[in-house]
Amino acid sequence: MKNIVVLVSGGGTNLQALMDAQSRGELRGGRITCVLSSNPDAYALTRAANAGIPTIVLPRKAYPDNAAYSKAVLEALASVQADLIVLAGFMIILDKSLIQAYKNRIINVHPALIPSFCGDGFYGLHVHEKALEKGVKLTGATVHFVTEVCDGGPIILQKAVAVENGDTPEILQRRVMEQAEWKILPEAVSLFCEDRLTVIDGRAYIDYKE
Ligand code: GAR
Repeated sequence: MKNIVVLVSGGGTNLQALMDAQSRGELRGGRITCVLSSNPDAYALTRAANAGIPTIVLPRKAYPDNAAYSKAVLEALASVQADLIVLAGFMIILDKSLIQAYKNRIINVHPALIPSFCGDGFYGLHVHEKALEKGVKLTGATVHFVTEVCDGGPIILQKAVAVENGDTPEILQRRVMEQAEWKILPEAVSLFCEDRLTVIDGRAYIDYKE
């Protein structure tokens, strides 16, 4: 069984989707052993506590820069012997020391179809504001490995979601979560934990066993 550590900063609905998948026996090959939050007030911490999962709080504000913060996160991850790190609404950009230490072992969920609406400044509700501003008719979510290029790592899974007339950023965000993020994130975590993902030349390949 792989040790899954989930990094959060906010509401934690993606964490909830992972914990729900685990309780249904649908998180194959791994267990969520720890939740680490950059924000002491994140509701995600309450969700973890309700599920009896140990938590670590490392407030971003307590560190002078991303390098110092990433070092503290790296130490925390080593102390809990993480095999897989899942960024589930984690709003801090981690520096290269951490990314290199966990190469192809960090996955992120992004609320758009990468390479659209991604990169610096595209996070949370802003992503959906930009999609509505552009008038796209399809958006969705992407789960990918994390590299030093923001939102640029190998894509594991994507799912498209329709944009509807009258959508607000909040309505669209909720639909993308329900129809895409909460489904593809637990599935990508399972594929990783079952050793069914391979990265070759910057692309991720899924081993379809059945
Ligand atoms: C989710 O939509 C996630 O995809 C997004 O923030 C939200 C967090 O919600 N992440 C990013 O934008 C990262 N670039 P949650 O805390 O309820 O899971």
